Amino acid sequence: MNILIVYATNSGGTQIASQSIQEVLTGKTHTVVVKQAAQTSPPELGQYDLVILGSPSWDYEGQEGLPHADFIDLIKKCQGTTFEGKKFAVFGLGDSSYTHFCGAVNHLEEFVTSVKGTKSGESLKIDGFYFNQEKNTELIRSWTEGLSQTLV
Ligand SMILES: Cc1cc2nc3c(=O)[nH]c(=O)nc-3n(C[C@H](O)[C@H](O)[C@H](O)COP(=O)(O)O)c2cc1C
Repeated sequence: MNILIVYATNSGGTQIASQSIQEVLTGKTHTVVVKQAAQTSPPELGQYDLVILGSPSWDYEGQEGLPHADFIDLIKKCQGTTFEGKKFAVFGLGDSSYTHFCGAVNHLEEFVTSVKGTKSGESLKIDGFYFNQEKNTELIRSWTEGLSQTLV
């Protein structure tokens, strides 16, 4: 299966998480490309069998729990586009000390629904990635194993 992981990051955690996901899926003989949200486009998303979206949650102009600004831009660019039946999966990094813990995941799930995509598996919310990187990397790997089982 051809898989695209689209991520954005501020302090590098979501990039590291994306690489772990890539590693696991490549081991399952999938072809996996990792791209930053700012460097992809709606037509490119259309070229893959599965698109995995990963974003930290952030706070812009006092509004918490938003996706990274590059995802906000990508979502805008996708307005009017549909990806009928295309598989999507969503993960996010956040911090449970915020009221809207991993709110970006909810926004990205709404995006998937709005473009008529199909969600593969449950989304993943990672709390305090760098505070326990080893345990969180294990969580990410096991989530990816579960995701790969939903792919046919
Ligand atoms: C200014 C700022 C705002 C944040 N807002 C939220 C938030 O609303 N919800 C949340 O769960 N985490 C929030 N976080 C935590 C980050 O999402 C978390 O540190 C994440 O791991 C960063 O990922 P990155 O390393 O890929 O940038 C915020 C962090 C900062 C510094």
